[in-house]
Order: sequence, then C-alpha cells, then structure tokens
Amino acid sequence: MGVSSRNHTTKACIPRSIFPYISILALFSLAVVVLFKVDDFIFRTKTVVGHNLEPTPWHLFPPKDVNEGPRYARASKIIQCSYLTCLRRSSYAVEQGPSRSSSPTSTCPSFFHWIHHDLEPWSRSRISFSTLMEARQLAAFRVVIVGGRLYVDFYYDCVQSRAMFTIWGFLQLLKRYPGLVPDVDLMFDCMDKPVVNKTEYELGTKGPPPPLFRYCTTSGHLDIPFPDWSFWGWPEVNIRPWVEEFKSIKQGSQDVIWRRKWPRAYWKGNPDVQSPIRTELLNCNDSRKWGAEILRQNWFEEAKGGFEQSKLSKQCNHRYKIYAEGYAWSVSLKYILSCGSLSLIISPQYEDFFSRGLVPKENYWPVSDIDLCRSIKFAVDWGNANPSQAEAIGKRGQIFMESLSMDRVYDYMYHLVSEYSKLQDFKPAPPSSAQEVCEESLLCFADAKLREFLESSTASSSLSLPCTLQPADHDLIESWIQKKRKIIGDVRMMEKKRA
Ligand SMILES: *[C@@H]1O[C@H](CO)[C@@H](O)[C@H](O)[C@H]1NC(C)=O
Ligand SMILES: *[C@@H]1O[C@H](CO)[C@@H](O)[C@H](O)[C@H]1NC(C)=O
Repeated sequence: MGVSSRNHTTKACIPRSIFPYISILALFSLAVVVLFKVDDFIFRTKTVVGHNLEPTPWHLFPPKDVNEGPRYARASKIIQCSYLTCLRRSSYAVEQGPSRSSSPTSTCPSFFHWIHHDLEPWSRSRISFSTLMEARQLAAFRVVIVGGRLYVDFYYDCVQSRAMFTIWGFLQLLKRYPGLVPDVDLMFDCMDKPVVNKTEYELGTKGPPPPLFRYCTTSGHLDIPFPDWSFWGWPEVNIRPWVEEFKSIKQGSQDVIWRRKWPRAYWKGNPDVQSPIRTELLNCNDSRKWGAEILRQNWFEEAKGGFEQSKLSKQCNHRYKIYAEGYAWSVSLKYILSCGSLSLIISPQYEDFFSRGLVPKENYWPVSDIDLCRSIKFAVDWGNANPSQAEAIGKRGQIFMESLSMDRVYDYMYHLVSEYSKLQDFKPAPPSSAQEVCEESLLCFADAKLREFLESSTASSSLSLPCTLQPADHDLIESWIQKKRKIIGDVRMMEKKRA
C-alpha cells in the first residue's frame, strides 16, 4: 500500500509539480497573444489626430509625427481617448434643446438657397448605400450620426489639424441643436480641390455622382461645400475661432477712418501655393504704377515671432484689400471682407458655402484675372474717384460677414445635413470600423494649444430653432448667376472704355 501509495503519490506528484509551470507557461503565452493582439489592435486604431493613417494620396503632405514616442505611452493614450472616454457621456439627444414647438424663427439668408442647388444632382436618383460607397474612394473620413451620437471612420489623414477641427464642428452642431440633427451618413474629403466633374455626370452614361462633402466647389464640380475648419480656429497660423477673429478685425478696422486709410490696394499672403494668380499678383507690386502693395507672408518667421506681424486686425488700414485664390479657395476671404475696406476679388474659380452670397458692386469689387495689374489699378482709381461709394461697398462687405455669425454657420450645417439626410434611401448605421467621437475624446487627443482653440469655440445649445429654409427655387439661382455675370460684364466694359 505504502509503495503503491507512494507510487500513486509520485504519479500524482509529477503533474502537480509540473502543472503550475504549464499553467504559467500557458497563461504567459495567452498573455503574449492577448498583448500582441491588443498591441496590434491599438496600432491599427486610427485617430482624429492621424495615428495609423497615411496622408491622402490625392494630395500628399509630410506625415505627422503622432506615431513617434514610446509605444506604451501611445498605446495607453489611444486606449484612453478612443475607447474609454465616450463611454462616460450621455447622448446630446437627451440634453435640453429647442423643441419643435419653439417660437418660429427668421428666414435663412438667401444664400442658403444654394443648399438645394448643391443637392439637386440626387433629387431624383436619391442617395443609395452603393452611391455613398462610391464616394468612399474619394473621402478622408466618413461621418455617421445616429441618435445624436457621432461616429467617424477614418480612411486617410488630413493636413495639420483640419480633421480635428472639422469633426469638432460636427460635434458642436449636435450640441447646438440637441435632438434635431437627423441620422446621417456622409463622406468627407478634407483636402482642397474639388474632384467630382459635373460634365462627366451630366452625360447620363454614369449613375448618380458620388456625394462628397468638402470645403469648396466650382461651377464645374458637384462636390458639396461645407464650412471649413477655420470657423473653429486654425491654430497652426494662429487664426482664432471666427467669433473672436471677426470681432477683433472689425475693431481693428475702426482704428483709421476711411479718409485716412491708405488709398492703395493691399495683399499679404503666401504666393508659393501653386496658384498662378498669386504668382502673377507679385508683378503688380508697385504703388505708383498699379496702386498695389503685395507682401509675402513668411509663416515660418511669423510663427517664430509669435504672429505679431500677421495679425489680421492690423491689416485694415488700406482702402482696398485684394483677395486672390490659393491652391483652391482660400479661408482668407472672410477676413478680407471683414475689414470693411473695399474688397477687390480676383475672378474666383472656387466657391465656398457662403461666397456665393456675395454680389459684385454690392459688397465687393470684381477684378479681372486677365490683365490683372491694370484691373487692380482701375478699381483703385475708381474707388479714389468715388470714395463714398467705395466706402459703402466695403461696409456692406463687412456687414455681410457680420451677419455670417456662428449661429448662421450652424444653421447652414444643420440645413445642409438635414436636406442631405432626406435623400438617403438607407438607414444610417456606423460601420464596425468606425469609432464614436465625442467632445471629450477629441479633446483627449489635443495638445495644450489645440485644446485652447477648441475649447474657445464650443457652442451652447440653442433656445430657438434654426432659421427657416426657403423651398428650392432653381430659377432664382439661375437669375443670380445671370445678374452677377452682367454686373461683372459692366465693370469689364468700364475698364475697356478707359483703356
Ligand atoms: C470635366 O471633364 C471634361 C471631360 O472629361 C473636361 O473637358 C473638363 O475640363 C472637366 N471639368 C473640370 C471642371 O475639371
Ligand atoms: C513689394 O514692394 C515692396 C516695396 O518696394 C517690398 O518691400 C516688398 O518686399 C515687395 N513684395 C514682394 C512680394 O516682393
């Protein structure tokens, strides 16, 4: 018995003494596998600041350095910001906001009519899921709003902090109108140039065009313009959120009265952005001959000097301010118009969501891109010969920008998103690869400077409903286009007569 018992014990002892090692080994391997999987998972997680994302292939830029730094720190940040932060919050939908029975509001500004125009390509076909998926190839990210929550599927990184500030804009829209923003599924490209060629889709040989949101379009494109990131701020060049920036520019514009403003045209910016018109503008840099001062903005130097020399509020001392498009549209348009000087707009190709509301000789002066310097000179001479008219047009430009308050920007976003959502013939649902993004999770990724800009551009929930959108009116838009063309034609005639 004893022996057998010992044998038995020994037999039993062997596994018992090895078992812990086996278990430890098993646990260890499991841990390694889990860690490896988690690690793999974390290092595949795409974020609003660009982790694990390549720059958009259609517009390359130097990749950001978010993937640098200790692996552990990066992983814990991604886990915390992307996976844990939004769990703690409630949906915007349950917060207090305007109710549908709130008092009736004002009619939207007339340029909101363009919302119908921009969505017209889908008015008959509507937007199917497969049409949406065609736009995926052209998008940097996909935004899905369901039940007042925002989900983002990231495809490519966007230059600087564009993605962050654009998505922040969507979050603020949800905050401003809790419970009002419908479920929606849309594709967004954050780079500059429109790509959906109108002519190609008008032939009728292709299906409906891919619905793609971006910051601008042209009359030859079907891209859907949406307010750009700079309304919430552009930290890289120290441009404050629109509310603050407008206020300070307007204040700065009052430093010098019209009579004392320098009777010349002024432009300061970056000419090295592959913009033929900006390159040509450099040739007009002659106060005597062309009445224009053209200055080069060196952002690198400005950043070093704390942006003291680039304060927009200090650039309103000329009677005329030139607007020249950059690589595509330029965010500078709104700051130029805000000065209350006479804006000399060089025949733009690109349109952002609000610029289509501008009327030549009403709130700006149209300058020709053909014989550019002479056209600028003509405008300057006209303004100096007709100072009260020039001042009035300048003032109306400023008033136009003042009326484009953030409230109106949110209203535009609201109506655009709402009208778009009515065209969807499928029920929006976030794909499994999308992540919920909430204010806190986005802030979680922001460094101190970004955070400061973001926090100073938060919206609060509105007590009233959005402005009332007028019904679609195709003829109205057509008549605006004709009217604009005629006024510009008249100015060209005036120039010719004098030449
Ligand atoms: C659209 O495509 C047509 C034909 O392919 C081309 O001639 C036209 O220039 C394109 N339009 C734009 C705005 O790129
Ligand atoms: C334009 O001319 C002024 C005065 O001659 C000069 O200081 C300035 O650097 C010139 N601008 C550019 C872009 O060369």
